[in-house]
Amino acid sequence: MNKPTALPVNPQGTPLKGVRGQMLSFKDDPFLRAEQECYDYYTDGLIVMQDGHILDVGDYDQTIKNYPQLKDIDVYKDAIIMPGFIDCHVHYVQSPMIGSFGDTLLNWLNQYTFPTESKFKDKAFADEVAHEFFKQLLEQGTTTANVFATTFETSVDAFFEESERYDTRMISGKVLQDRNLPDSLKDSSAEESILLAEKLLKKWHHRGRQLYAIIPRFAPTSTPEQLRLAGELYQRYIDQGVYMHTHLDEVQSEIDWVTQLFPDQPNYTEVYRHFGLVDKRSIMAHCCIVREEEWQTLHQCDCGVAHCPSSNLFLGDGEFKYWEAKEQSRPVRVGMGTDVGGGTNFSIPRQLNEAYKVAMLHMRNLDAVKSFYLATRGGAEALHLENTIGSLAPGYEADLAVVDLKPSEFAAWRMKFTGDIFEKLFVIMTLGLNTINMATYVAGRKVYDRNRDRKYMYAADIDAAQQPHAPQESTTDPKTSQK
Ligand code: GUN
Ligand code: ZN
Repeated sequence: MNKPTALPVNPQGTPLKGVRGQMLSFKDDPFLRAEQECYDYYTDGLIVMQDGHILDVGDYDQTIKNYPQLKDIDVYKDAIIMPGFIDCHVHYVQSPMIGSFGDTLLNWLNQYTFPTESKFKDKAFADEVAHEFFKQLLEQGTTTANVFATTFETSVDAFFEESERYDTRMISGKVLQDRNLPDSLKDSSAEESILLAEKLLKKWHHRGRQLYAIIPRFAPTSTPEQLRLAGELYQRYIDQGVYMHTHLDEVQSEIDWVTQLFPDQPNYTEVYRHFGLVDKRSIMAHCCIVREEEWQTLHQCDCGVAHCPSSNLFLGDGEFKYWEAKEQSRPVRVGMGTDVGGGTNFSIPRQLNEAYKVAMLHMRNLDAVKSFYLATRGGAEALHLENTIGSLAPGYEADLAVVDLKPSEFAAWRMKFTGDIFEKLFVIMTLGLNTINMATYVAGRKVYDRNRDRKYMYAADIDAAQQPHAPQESTTDPKTSQK
């Protein structure tokens, strides 16, 4: 990294920051248009960032001429700079039970998930888990996630407080669940649960980069009354950008249970729609076993869907069929989700690895263009944030991942036998390494750098370190000091 001797300033007085290297960014959906029209690729590009946003992107030689005052440029070789990855469905509260052995969804929930989530009433425990979760996300180059907390206020506050420290754009909220789960996790009543959700929504939605989601866990764990009140709350706030996030059509045993519980509805999607929960900012996780009329509803209502292949394989759920979701006559917005702790790792590129294999089981493939679109802009589209994050273009928020194209000695050797960048990226995602991300930028700050002494740094610590002669105080919790 080039260290400036003095802070360079632009005419408005705020410092510029540059990132230089090979770059890839998507601007359209390669499932629906010719692939070569869907991305911008620079062999030697420059991103100019200011105040958390991208000011300019282009070929280095051309772009640098317009910024003679720009001296602070991080240069990456043997790497490719992309928008930060987007995880459209993950449970931060399940981080302590990732990799739990041996059961299908409904038993697994009872055996591992509910007991673990019950512990989040304790704020100190919630803080510890949130802290570790963000480290995992940032290490893997994920800069935005759509996240389940759990029943308790403490679980929501711990999550958003940690997100604020990094200045990440995150979506989360209290989980609504008032039946068919242990008392230790159950909402005391439908009315109380909605009052608490609204209180948290008012506290966190649009506070800095934080966004709120109304989260009925899934239809079986909410009474009809809770779903009705959740739908009312969603409809009251939808025009302020509030989300609805839930699970849908994951596994046959779950679908059968929903049929028993809601016999008047013709399918699972209609259960949610009946209560006003299917709308333009509704995000549905899984969607492995979906009827044609449900895809049509998801399309008409402009919902987003999270494809979570590592979780679907681990829990033996079923397979997401992207060719159904992306049917040209009624395409649906799709992004990737890790679904930790059903998912077995925090890496979005490793989800792409599993997505390819799931598609191959059905004699379909998934190339690197479509895959990395899903990991970035596809996720932003699923979350209706495609004008804010997920692409490298002027005006977008400056969230970046820097993918190492030689993440191991063997990978470096294997690269000798590859051709263009998409061939390289396909090999990288297929090797499935946990070490492919070199650095992560959030709102223009390098919050993760695997080669730095302090790998993870909060926004305030980075700002303090950049002030000339400022004392280097840390806002990091010393108990869990980050290295
Ligand atoms: N359906 C309801 N709750 C859950 C959960 O925690 N994980 C998964 N994978 N599916 C669910
Ligand atoms: Zn889930």
